[in-house]
Amino acid sequence: MKNYNFDEYINRKNSDCVKYDGLKKYFDVENARPMWVADMDFQTPKFILDDLKKVFDKKILGYPIVSNKVHDSIISWYKKRHDLSNFTENDILLTSGVVTALSACIEAFSNENDEVIIQTPVYFPFFSVVKDNNRKLILNPLKNSDDYYTMDFKDLENKITSKTKLLILCSPHNPVGRVWSKEELLKLAKICYENNITIISDEIHSDLVFKKFTSFLHLEDKYLNNLVILNSPSKTFNLAGLNSSYIICKNSTLKKRLNSVINKHHIGSVNIFGLESIISAYNKGEEWLEFLLQYLKDNINYVDDFLKENNNSITFNKPEATYLLWLNFSKIKDSHKNIFDRLLHNANLVLNDGSTFGKEGKYYFRLNIALSKNELIKSLSYLNNEFN
Ligand SMILES: Cc1ncc(COP(=O)(O)O)c(C=O)c1O
Repeated sequence: MKNYNFDEYINRKNSDCVKYDGLKKYFDVENARPMWVADMDFQTPKFILDDLKKVFDKKILGYPIVSNKVHDSIISWYKKRHDLSNFTENDILLTSGVVTALSACIEAFSNENDEVIIQTPVYFPFFSVVKDNNRKLILNPLKNSDDYYTMDFKDLENKITSKTKLLILCSPHNPVGRVWSKEELLKLAKICYENNITIISDEIHSDLVFKKFTSFLHLEDKYLNNLVILNSPSKTFNLAGLNSSYIICKNSTLKKRLNSVINKHHIGSVNIFGLESIISAYNKGEEWLEFLLQYLKDNINYVDDFLKENNNSITFNKPEATYLLWLNFSKIKDSHKNIFDRLLHNANLVLNDGSTFGKEGKYYFRLNIALSKNELIKSLSYLNNEFN
């Protein structure tokens, strides 16, 4: 068994990464500590970097052909990690990014002015991708009980009309960190099935889980007909810059429509490094992932203990998935805007502004804890100095 070093500090400044080098552009600050964008400050696994170097060794970076190894690695990963073997290589479509795939699905499965449901607070591109495709955005806010979030099925049923064609599910959910239970997914599936609504299940966080993950693919066959899964190894293995992802779709009519949109926009080719990274991550990544999950769990527990001991005005519920903490600042007697300014200019910390995830995100800020424990400790002390 290998020992992986998640304690290593890697200086990302001046490496042209948005998390550090985008601070001036997006926040007009230079030296704040970036705890925002959802990528990790850990090294991309060495076995993947080594496999990518082998691509250079071929000496020519010409057009690649997609070998069976790509599809086989996806199929074997789902079997190993999620005990799923109910799809074949014909059901997998490659795309250059999950949000790109989401936009293609909206175009393929609905018409202008049709209604698309999202469950807020949620990953902000879900809003723009619907609006930019000229579809009508319908909000089905999650129910919040002491920062534990559940789906509001009653509200969902009330909002469905004959124009409702799609529901975008975030599973696990960014930013609230829920891993949806099989019962919750079944209820959702039943409502969508009865109303002929296609579910787009974005499962990009499905390997970063601290409890057993249920994919929509685990449900009965009849619910898989009106379904597409979007996924990528990019979050799990810190590969977001490679823009590689895939769709799993078992329904041949949906697949045909999707293929025609993908071909129309020429977004179905993954670059030569993206292809290699999928094969490498999914064939070699299990042990590394177990170490990563343990490290993330320790970091989450550290934040929990730290805040409970030192600060009773910032609270959160430990996430069931992801390295993103949905911090609740509502006990602080200040406006949302002032809290954000104080985070940025006094605490020197860049968190994601919760209100960008929907209006339910007022008084919330999203903290990325995928960094070395030492660096996390420094950030927490800055946070505590300002808000204690
Ligand atoms: C739920 C969700 N979907 C998609 C993405 C981004 O995927 P991509 O970079 O492949 O477009 C993210 C990134 O944070 C995410 O949280």
